[in-house]
Amino acid sequence: MSSVVLIGAQWGDEGKGKITDFLAEKADAVVRYQGGNNAGHTVVVGDEEFKLHLIPSGILYPDTICVIGNGVVVDPQVLLEELEYLKARNIDVSGLRISTNAHVIMPYHRLLDELEEERRGENKIGTTKRGIGPAYMDKAARSGIRIGDLLDPDELKQRLAAVLDQKNLLLERVYEARPLDIEDVLDKYLAYGEKIKEFIADTSHLINQIYDRGERVLFEGAQGTLLDLDHGTYPFVTSSNPIAGGACVGVGFGPTKIDKVLGVVKAYTTRVGEGPFPTELNDEVGDEIRRAGHEFGTTTGRPRRCGWFDMVMFNYAVQVSGISHVALTKLDVLDGVEKIKICTGYKYKGDKLESFPNSLKQLSLCEPVYEEHPGWMSSTSEVRSYEQLPDEAKRYIERIQELSKVKTAIIAVGPKREQTIVTESLF
Ligand code: GDP
Ligand code: IMO
Ligand code: MG
Repeated sequence: MSSVVLIGAQWGDEGKGKITDFLAEKADAVVRYQGGNNAGHTVVVGDEEFKLHLIPSGILYPDTICVIGNGVVVDPQVLLEELEYLKARNIDVSGLRISTNAHVIMPYHRLLDELEEERRGENKIGTTKRGIGPAYMDKAARSGIRIGDLLDPDELKQRLAAVLDQKNLLLERVYEARPLDIEDVLDKYLAYGEKIKEFIADTSHLINQIYDRGERVLFEGAQGTLLDLDHGTYPFVTSSNPIAGGACVGVGFGPTKIDKVLGVVKAYTTRVGEGPFPTELNDEVGDEIRRAGHEFGTTTGRPRRCGWFDMVMFNYAVQVSGISHVALTKLDVLDGVEKIKICTGYKYKGDKLESFPNSLKQLSLCEPVYEEHPGWMSSTSEVRSYEQLPDEAKRYIERIQELSKVKTAIIAVGPKREQTIVTESLF
C-alpha cells in the first residue's frame, strides 16, 4: 500500500511528465489533481514523443488507471482531441476516468482569459490563454459548470442560462466583444458530454478503493510550487494549488494516506511567463542552457527564461510540500557548462536572507548569493548508475542534497525512459 505525490518544485516544466511515466510502470493508478491544459508534460518512449496536456502521463501503460480528479479544470474539446491523438498512436485509453465534479472550461473562459490579459497590458501575467483562471474564478464564485452537468440537459440549460447572461454582459459591455449564443453552447457541450460519458466516474471513491486494496497510487502535479495560487510568486501564478496538499483537495484523498512526496527539480531553473526570477541568466550561459535543454514551452512554444539552481527557492518548496525525495532532472544539460553556480541565499538591502521572501517586491529586489562548482565537461547521457557519473557531477548532486537535507531518489540524464538513474526506490 503506497502513494506518492509528485510535484514540480520550481516554476513548472521540471520534467514531471518524464518522471511520472517512469514511475507509472509500477503504479496501479496515476492521478492529475489540479490545473488543466495549461500543463504540457512530455514523455519520450523510444523514438516517439508524446505531449500530454490533460490526460495523466501514466496513460502510455495499458493496465494503469488514469484519473482526472475533481480539482482539474477540463476543456472537453481538448480532452477529445487528446484522446484522438493517443488513439491514433495505438494507445489504449480505456483506463481513463474523469471526476464528475471536475469543473468545465467553457468558451467564455477562453475568451475572457485572452481579453483580460490584453486589458492588463504591461502588467500581464503571461497566461497560457487556455481559460484556466476564469474557470477557477467561476468555481470559487459557485457559478461553474461541472463534468456531471454535461449529462443532464435540463440542469445544464438552467445553469448555463444564468451564467451566460452575466458573461455576455461582460463580453459586450466591458470588452466590446461578441456575445455567445446559448443554444450553440448548449448543443456543443451536451454533445461533448455524450462523447466522454463512458469515462465519467466517482474518482475519489475509486482512488481510495485502489489504495485501500494495497495498490500503488501516483499523483501527478502540474505546474510548480512557485506557480501555486497561495504559495507562489503571486500574482504571477496559476489559479490552482500544485503543491502536495493540493492532491488531497483535488482528488478527495486524505493526508494520512500520503506516503511520500517527490519533488521534481531541474539541475538549473526555468520560468515561462512574467514575474521575478532572482537567478535568471540574461547572458550566453543562459542562451546555452536554453539551447542544450530545448527550453521552449510545450504548450505555447514560448522560449523559457533560464537561470542557476536556486536553493532558497527549493528549500521553500521542501517546506510547503514536505518533500521527502527528489527527482533531479536534466543533469545532462549542464554537461558542457564549465562553471556551475548554486544560489545559497539572497541579499536584500545588504542583509543575507536564508528563507524565501513572501513579498514579491522584496523578491524582485533580492540579489542571489552564489557558490561556484566546477563543471564535469563530459557527457552524462549514457550514464545508467550513480557510480558511473563524473566526480564533479556527484559532488554537485551531493551538495544539493546536503543543502536541502532531502534524499535524491532519481536522476534524469535525458528525456528517454532509459536515461534515468534510480538511487532509491519509491514504490
Ligand atoms: P513538465 O511540464 O514538468 O512535464 O516538463 P516539460 O515536458 O514541459 O519539459 C521538460 C522537457 O525536458 C521535455 O521536453 C522533456 O522531454 C525533457 N526532459 C525531461 N527530463 C530530461 C532530462 O533529464 N534531460 C533532458 N535533456 N531532457 C529532459
Ligand atoms: P507544466 O505542468 C510552466 C504559467 C504561465 C503563466 C502562469 C499563469 O507543464 O509544468 P495560466 O494559463 O495557468 O493562468 O498561466 O503560469 N504556467 C506554466 N509554466 N509550466 C506549466 O505547466 C505552466 N502552466 C502555467 O506561463 O506564467
Ligand atoms: Mg511543461
